[in-house]
Amino acid sequence: MKYAIIGTGWIAKAFADGVKIAEGISPFAVYSRTREKGEEFAGKTGAEKVFTDLEEMVLCDEIDAVYIASPNAFHYKQSKLFLEHGKHVICEKPITVCPSEFEELFALAKSKKLVYMEAIMMMHFPNRFLIENAIKRIGKIFSARVDFSQLSSKYPALVRGENPNIFNPEMATGCLMDLGIYNIYFALYYFGKPEKITSTSLKLDTGADALGTAVFHYPDKQITLTYSKVGQSRTATEIYGDKGTVVVESISKLVNISLISNNGDMEIIADDTEKEEVMSWEAKDFFRFIRDYDACSDEYEKCAEFSLEVSRVMAEIRKQNGLNYTSVR
Ligand SMILES: NC(=O)c1ccc[n+]([C@@H]2O[C@H](COP(=O)([O-])OP(=O)(O)OC[C@H]3O[C@@H](n4cnc5c(N)ncnc54)[C@H](OP(=O)(O)O)[C@@H]3O)[C@@H](O)[C@H]2O)c1
Repeated sequence: MKYAIIGTGWIAKAFADGVKIAEGISPFAVYSRTREKGEEFAGKTGAEKVFTDLEEMVLCDEIDAVYIASPNAFHYKQSKLFLEHGKHVICEKPITVCPSEFEELFALAKSKKLVYMEAIMMMHFPNRFLIENAIKRIGKIFSARVDFSQLSSKYPALVRGENPNIFNPEMATGCLMDLGIYNIYFALYYFGKPEKITSTSLKLDTGADALGTAVFHYPDKQITLTYSKVGQSRTATEIYGDKGTVVVESISKLVNISLISNNGDMEIIADDTEKEEVMSWEAKDFFRFIRDYDACSDEYEKCAEFSLEVSRVMAEIRKQNGLNYTSVR
């Protein structure tokens, strides 16, 4: 099995390290817009080939699969190109800008018996079951506060008046697309589909959202989602039950989890785990789905249905807040 990487950012390196842990292999090839960056990335990851032309890379027979870690606006076009040429695709979140794009590409992948999945750590990391079990122990749940507020490393550039990709609507980015997606995965996974969603956002001059809040309304509970790229949370996500509280420090990695009972006793459910280790689980599932396509089809399709549901919720929140992004075609 040979795989290639599109993009040379830190997340692409973390994924390559995750694959090394899961499968013991280095990427075969990397695509960068510049040879220099491609070669630097190849030097760090052991990739044998560097491409600066995607059309050339997609014609390389030796490549079976591709991991896409480019800005969001390119996900649809690049995924389509590789699926059309018979390559399996794992694409960074959000997998596409619109749910209809995901549906189209998922159908294309299925018609060719290819795997097409979103790179989302929490759906593959076994710690998700630890949280599920902890939630069962805190009694009746009326509310939760699901938070992902992380001051962006690109914030100083934004303040200087630059237009970093992460705050540039032309790249289909912003806070909801970058961080809020994790809140949505978490809320849908543990509490299911809400009856109603209300949401607000605060937009930057660039047109992207700096932060947002969404409330998921259920007949018996309200779940509040908060996400920000312009402030740093020092607390964590909390799920409030009438017998105790489950605390999750990172909802993207699902680490540092504890259960605090009403008398104040704290039980550590899980400690921290390196990002590469967490990413190795999604890589492991991706390659397993490819190898055992028929045997894994139920599991794989479940992942896809979940990604589609998340994408629909993202579209709804964007609609409520006038966050209009499109994919590069
Ligand atoms: N799973 C996670 O924890 C996680 C964390 C961070 C990001 N992500 C996701 O990973 C993806 C990439 O995020 P990032 O922060 O790495 O993005 P980024 O730094 O803006 O771009 C990623 C790569 O794409 C290429 N690129 C940059 N600007 C481009 C442009 N205008 N046109 C074409 N290519 C361009 C660059 O590679 P070259 O210069 O070499 O071509 C760059 O290294 C996003 O979808 C994001 O949501 C996931």
